[in-house]
Amino acid sequence: MAGGEKEITSVLKERRLFKPNKEFSQQAHIKSLREYERLCKKAEKDPETFWGTLAKELHWFKPWKKVLQWKPPFAKWFVGGKINVAYNCLDRHLEGWRKNKAAIIWEGEPGDTRTLTYQDLHREVCKFANVLKQEGVVKGDRVAIYMPMIPELAIAMLACARIGATHSIIFGGFSSAALRDRINDAEAKLVVTADGGYRKGSVITLKEKVDEALKGSPSVEKMVVVRRTNTPVKMRRGRDFWWHDLMKDASDHCKAVPLDSEHPLFILYTSGTTGKPKGVVHTTGGYLLGTTVTARWIFDLKDTDTYWCTADIGWVTGHSYIIYGILSNGVTSVMYEGVPTYPQPDRLWQIVDKYKVNVFYTAPTAIRALVKLGKAWPERHDLSSLRLLGTVGEPINPEAWMWYHTIIGKKKCPIVDTWWQTETGSIMISPLPGAIPTKPGSATRPFPGISVDVVDRKGAGVKPNIGGYLIIKRPWPSMLRTIWRDPKRFKNQYWSDIPGVYFTGDGARRDRDGYFWVMGRVDDVINVAGHRLGTMEVESALVSHPAVAEAAVVGRPDPIKGTGIAAFVTLEGKNKPAEKLKKALKAHVTKEIGAIARPDDIRFTENLPKTRSGKIMRRLLRDIASGNETVGDTSTLEDYTVLATLRQEDE
Ligand code: PRX
Repeated sequence: MAGGEKEITSVLKERRLFKPNKEFSQQAHIKSLREYERLCKKAEKDPETFWGTLAKELHWFKPWKKVLQWKPPFAKWFVGGKINVAYNCLDRHLEGWRKNKAAIIWEGEPGDTRTLTYQDLHREVCKFANVLKQEGVVKGDRVAIYMPMIPELAIAMLACARIGATHSIIFGGFSSAALRDRINDAEAKLVVTADGGYRKGSVITLKEKVDEALKGSPSVEKMVVVRRTNTPVKMRRGRDFWWHDLMKDASDHCKAVPLDSEHPLFILYTSGTTGKPKGVVHTTGGYLLGTTVTARWIFDLKDTDTYWCTADIGWVTGHSYIIYGILSNGVTSVMYEGVPTYPQPDRLWQIVDKYKVNVFYTAPTAIRALVKLGKAWPERHDLSSLRLLGTVGEPINPEAWMWYHTIIGKKKCPIVDTWWQTETGSIMISPLPGAIPTKPGSATRPFPGISVDVVDRKGAGVKPNIGGYLIIKRPWPSMLRTIWRDPKRFKNQYWSDIPGVYFTGDGARRDRDGYFWVMGRVDDVINVAGHRLGTMEVESALVSHPAVAEAAVVGRPDPIKGTGIAAFVTLEGKNKPAEKLKKALKAHVTKEIGAIARPDDIRFTENLPKTRSGKIMRRLLRDIASGNETVGDTSTLEDYTVLATLRQEDE
């Protein structure tokens, strides 16, 4: 197991308990701890009936023959069933009063707005589905989407789902090199992008980056470009088309294709422990069920709710909880293009007030940043519409939790701290807000039907409050099915470290009340501002610079981002350590991966500390980067002097 050298110790002692208030519980989908426990028992005893019963609430063109076919580690859910995600998110709601309900309320960073009812969204999706078909996209083709947070992004993904094209959304902050690699791995046939998007008051260019990427992406035949910022772009004849030109004449009739329940809905690339990102594959029926039920019970969604998740759709949170899980429940989803602090640090609260948001879902890193800016900003706005708050992406420190609870939730909103991953597709551990009392910093208990545990290396359960590895014991409907075109890696990565179970890569402990406390990654993956990055990826980017001989990248605590990136670099030949080179290396990583991977610190060193077998001693580097004393065993150090040198440089 990677990172085995890092001991899992838990230092957090948190004893506060917040019970759901009676009023909330009475109106909640799941009303009491007893009801939650009953559901868990039922699911535990007969998971297939449990999931099968819930799945009947979705629209199926053809019922399934078998709920689960499990040939470890490969699962098939709702075998033989035919279903369409776009149909479930749109067409279903057109039959009744919801047809004129807002599906998406969108706000651009400059303040422009757009509201699409379910009917509007359906019409646009049908039109774009026809555009895709006209441009040669057929069922099973991959479509890459590289866009700002604008309604066309939602339209494009739902249009893919409608015709059975598999989308691969690449976060708009990724560089053209990262985009190229992802396009090539998926062999995308068409790219949807925009001229640019707005971020912190400036324009970020997108089409330009796609142009650069396509120089090395032979699979792409066509590109569709949304005009968002009026940034001048070069359109290549026969390859590049404006969205508005193609949509002008497109028909708004397009039948949703009945797809096999296991048809791949999307690929989403995420970082792993090697330099190459993994294409996590999610399929149709099980994914939709997982996101729909978790959204309903955890966010306690009601038809009257205005729901807002601040994530970018380029990450899994946006896929599952801005679009699929929310629209399938027929709820109104707010979508915002820009950053939380533009033009002022109250932008989020201004939007909550403006649209009377009821359920608000964000990341601890955003909360920490806003705490620092002071409570005067939220206090300028009426936040009384809020009834439920959520967090995702990393452990939330109890101080940030308390601020969220007091300043934003006015002590009346339950907080759901939701633990999950790109791979799990939907939330795995979280309070059900009307049922489970919360403890600041704990994601509390597993969702009914989700069998999680904390174990040692051999897979044996550990005692309460002892740290161990977080695993999932049984298949679940929204689980990743494989790594795109790499089933071997899927098996090795998730199903080999601990026998017979899915290993999450996280360390955790469970307390005496059965509450889970996730402590963070135990492998060479770091969590920067709620975004996952493989240290190997950043290392590969550094080493691709001609001045660099070797690099080791580790995480170090950061008060806002959770984890900052520290890089230790040895230089090639005659290159001299210099401030200018540090800057150049940071810019190089930004170019290779994107600004999210830009190292916070770079330190030059003659050598890197290694074990006798040549493995970089990351624990030592982590300690140095965070300024801690090294207490571990260093007897395997190849070169003791390296450590001393690194320390001196530090002083
Ligand atoms: O380490 C865990 C952390 O984020 C990782 C998953 O990252 P990603 O696939 O990018 O998905 C993020 C959004 C679902 C996990 O392995 N993580 C996520 N949520 C929490 C968390 N750690 C602690 N508490 C959480 N609520």
